[in-house]
Amino acid sequence: MIYRKFGKTGIELSQLGFGAMRFPLIDEYDPTKIDETRATHMLHYAIDNGVNYVDNAYPYHRQTSEVFLGKALKQGYRQKIYLGTKLPVWLIKSKADSQKYFDEQLQRLHVDYLDMYLLHSLGKNGWKTVNDHDVLRFLDRLLKAGKIRLAGFSYHDELPLFKKIVDAYPWTFCLIQLNYVDDHYQAGIEGLEYAHEKGLAVMIMEPLRGGKLANNVPLQVTNLISKSAWHQTPAQFALRWVLNRPEVSCLLSGMSTLEQVKENIAFASQEHMNSLTAEELVLYARAKKFYQSRTKVNCSQCGYCMPCAKNIPISFILELFNDACMYDAVEDSRWAYRVFIKPENRADQCTKCGECEEKCPQKIPIGELLEEADESLK
Ligand SMILES: NC(=O)c1ccc[n+]([C@@H]2O[C@H](COP(=O)([O-])OP(=O)(O)OC[C@H]3O[C@@H](n4cnc5c(N)ncnc54)[C@H](OP(=O)(O)O)[C@@H]3O)[C@@H](O)[C@H]2O)c1
Repeated sequence: MIYRKFGKTGIELSQLGFGAMRFPLIDEYDPTKIDETRATHMLHYAIDNGVNYVDNAYPYHRQTSEVFLGKALKQGYRQKIYLGTKLPVWLIKSKADSQKYFDEQLQRLHVDYLDMYLLHSLGKNGWKTVNDHDVLRFLDRLLKAGKIRLAGFSYHDELPLFKKIVDAYPWTFCLIQLNYVDDHYQAGIEGLEYAHEKGLAVMIMEPLRGGKLANNVPLQVTNLISKSAWHQTPAQFALRWVLNRPEVSCLLSGMSTLEQVKENIAFASQEHMNSLTAEELVLYARAKKFYQSRTKVNCSQCGYCMPCAKNIPISFILELFNDACMYDAVEDSRWAYRVFIKPENRADQCTKCGECEEKCPQKIPIGELLEEADESLK
């Protein structure tokens, strides 16, 4: 495993971190049903092979991920890693709420302090909540009391606000979405460089766009990848682009199988900083252009939109809608829509209540797109 400096802290973090958001399931339709045996094995394998950061959050796996992790980190594994989780800022309705959720998180994780603590998914609304309810003072108190060692935030919104937030508090680190398609999206490369210049350690989420850059990669993109100097899988092609950047401290991957853990660890055991040539960067630009021309909805299947009051499998429907265009395969998507989704849960049942849109980190107009998807897939 290659380790990188974590800002000015003196900590060396594995360049691959484990995201606790996409564990394997025993029932693929129920994210609360983590396959604990397989997930524990994956996690222990990763830690035994050098991964020293695990990233969690209050809502992951519909609030069961922290509970699972608390169990899986027993037998000495907690002491081998830096453990991070996130305050669900959108649930904060009063000053007292921050403490309430933090205490619950410690209890779920069976710990009495956290190494890293982030304000989760900041954007315009989240930043207002932080200011309205004195959440920054709350962080001060946690730091002073030794309940957290380092404070940071994760971010999903426009670049100017990102810069404002970077400058508003003595953060140690931040977590941003970055991959070769989303290089100028949300904080993007400019945000990465800005935060780094200001002395923050930067962690990266969604390096594979939630798996879209690794699985079922269109032929047009695999052809480009094969022109690169390296013999590599699409996942490695995408991870290399992120690890090429010297400003990145740690790349998080939400791995869902042991094979992925093994592949990503082997890959992160090589040095990739500043490894890409100008010719290779052109290949990435061309692959990005292809994806952008074929993507209808910028959904990365993070699942933050769920649960839906009507039990509409939002991200699955948006995926089918995207796939129809990405692979010129509208009939395949129509078939899956009919076979896998019951009529009472299809997109036309959406009442446009807007709850999912508030939670979506990509700010997708879900109601409108579900309507379009239903028109195209029914
Ligand atoms: N704070 C926030 O707002 C926020 C938002 C999103 C994520 N995060 C954090 O960041 C972490 C990383 O984001 P992410 O999970 O979206 O990362 P990602 O790496 O973009 O996507 C993970 C998915 O990529 C696929 N994958 C991973 N390694 C692979 C490999 N070697 N070969 C083929 N496919 C591979 C898997 O998809 P399949 O399961 O389909 O095989 C996996 O579920 C999350 O787990 C979470 O901890 C935070």
